[in-house]
Amino acid sequence: MKFPFQISTAEQLEMDYKKSISNPEVFWAEIASHFLWKSKWEKTLSWNFEQPLVQWFKGGILNITENALDRHAAITPNKTALICEPNNPSETAISFTYEELLNKVNQFAHVLKNNGAKKGDRICIYMPMVPELAIAVLACARIGAIHSVVFGGFSAQSISDRINDAQCNLVLTADGAYRGNKSIPLKSVVDEALLSCPSVKTCIVLTRSNTPVSMLKGRDMWWEDELDKVNQMENSWFDAEPMDAEDMLFILYTSGSTGKPKGVVHTIGGYMVWTTYTFLNVFQYQPNEVFFCTADVGWITGHSYLIYGPLCAGATTVLFEGVPNYPDAGRLWDICDKHQVNILYTAPTAIRSLMQAGDQWLDGKNLSSLKKLGSVGEPINEEAWQWYFKNIGRQICPIVDTWWQTETGGIMISAIAGITEAIPAWATLPMPGVQPILVDENGNELEGAASGNLCIKAPWPGMIRTTYGDHDRCRAAYFSTYPGLYFTGDGAMRDEKGNYRITGRVDDVLNVSGHRIGTAEVENAINMHTGVIESAVVGYPHDIKGQGIYAFVIVSDKHHTLDLIQNDISQTVAQIIGPIAKPDKIQIVSGLPKTRSGKIMRRILRKIAEGDISNLGDTTTLLDPTVVDEIVLGRKK
Ligand code: WT7
Repeated sequence: MKFPFQISTAEQLEMDYKKSISNPEVFWAEIASHFLWKSKWEKTLSWNFEQPLVQWFKGGILNITENALDRHAAITPNKTALICEPNNPSETAISFTYEELLNKVNQFAHVLKNNGAKKGDRICIYMPMVPELAIAVLACARIGAIHSVVFGGFSAQSISDRINDAQCNLVLTADGAYRGNKSIPLKSVVDEALLSCPSVKTCIVLTRSNTPVSMLKGRDMWWEDELDKVNQMENSWFDAEPMDAEDMLFILYTSGSTGKPKGVVHTIGGYMVWTTYTFLNVFQYQPNEVFFCTADVGWITGHSYLIYGPLCAGATTVLFEGVPNYPDAGRLWDICDKHQVNILYTAPTAIRSLMQAGDQWLDGKNLSSLKKLGSVGEPINEEAWQWYFKNIGRQICPIVDTWWQTETGGIMISAIAGITEAIPAWATLPMPGVQPILVDENGNELEGAASGNLCIKAPWPGMIRTTYGDHDRCRAAYFSTYPGLYFTGDGAMRDEKGNYRITGRVDDVLNVSGHRIGTAEVENAINMHTGVIESAVVGYPHDIKGQGIYAFVIVSDKHHTLDLIQNDISQTVAQIIGPIAKPDKIQIVSGLPKTRSGKIMRRILRKIAEGDISNLGDTTTLLDPTVVDEIVLGRKK
């Protein structure tokens, strides 16, 4: 399918950018008109960042799955929509054409309906990266239910917090997940979570790893049994639920600077237009190209560029169940060769770990199908960029370094593959519709080449609408630091040509292997350990992960060795949040540097964690300056 809004020259980009800023409503109405609507919207845009209120295409009636599936199944029924590469390379890959995927989604929509799910319900999805995950997500959208996907690495506690926050009534999971040489017992984690989730009435369980699981009568159903019932129907067509453009499509929880993750809400129409538009333009997707995004569907990248963007664009998208280093560090390259991947979209942390594994893993790999490369999730350092460009891109593939966030729904600042210039370690230029601004601490706008806090001036179709169940929190987190602006939480530099380089978070949020983790969240988890009195968590530069987690902890436990206490603290964090939040370093200290008013001086702890101890700044205002010397001495290298 050819979309007329695909940019093909730098001049066109410049023109479109200008149009999108001078008259956003006309610009986006034209683009939205190329999608399938059951009836047209009443108003293209209403907005006010004070409340905040953002509505795009309000009153327009549609179902995103008709855009992602039906329209392509009608025109190109035999085109491959989804290629699913299993964890174990000896298992056969499974592909679905647009027609087949539509049928699967229709069938599973019946399963959901048969189990009482309806428009507006919240459905929690905690699954491995198997075809049924994509099918489940789309089936929720087809019946008008709101999906809340929880990454398979989160703990029972994290799942139940998310289920309770959204009051989900249905959970979709699997017996277990394969990830590399590990098997993760998903259903038993869900069982533990559901002990404290009274809203959940039904749990549908897919068989994947054949791990024994407990199945609770009246609550737990086998996926396969439920599908059998649908297969007995004469016709399993499912009419897509008519939805308003501003109805919720999904909730995705993400960490902020407070302890509790926020349920970021995206609505249907704007998100569809934004993800499709950015997918087609940033990657310059051409019909018949194969697109491979290595992100997990549990994160926004998986939602936007593994499922919705590519499918709405009629692309072929690859879903990989496993991890880049299993069975060896050549796996991604094998997949690129096997499925003749043309566009690879991955994270700097993966690039760095494969780079470190050594170039021998590239020997004999045929990467000639690759035409374009992408990077996402954290700043990409120059060395990793060059390695990616030379070894994977054979110095001919353009690289797009795409900056965006869970809250932005899709790519905001990026080069356009092959059309605008890529600059290593720079995200470069804003997409049409995006008006970035840099401000100083006091919210004053900085002009020209500058360094400051990155904000966005005006709404774009894919932006966050609210945080689920707590609209005030959305205002407080994003719209109140600098009134009238959306604050990203990132710092950035801008050159005289208007290129942006993202320098990292300016709030208490860490980016560990491309995953967002709040320091307060980790501190809360550490403090749950019975032997812990107080803790302070900061980030430090980590060769592979980008940032590592460094915890300073005061303990009361006198009966165990320090080693054991540290391991217990790690275990506690894994139990409360998930293994991704385990501290890399734990230093037991007798006190923390605090001001006289009791505030922890994180600036000092950050410097110590970074190993930058030559100049710790002024410590005389501290309640007890000697504690700093002790911490410096006991620093974990
Ligand atoms: C944070 C958002 C965007 C999807 C994956 C992460 C950082 C993201 C880049 C980039 C520098 C980046 C920012 C941002 N980030 N992409 N290309 N260059 N930093 O989504 O979990 O919502 O995290 O990731 O700090 O705020 P997320």
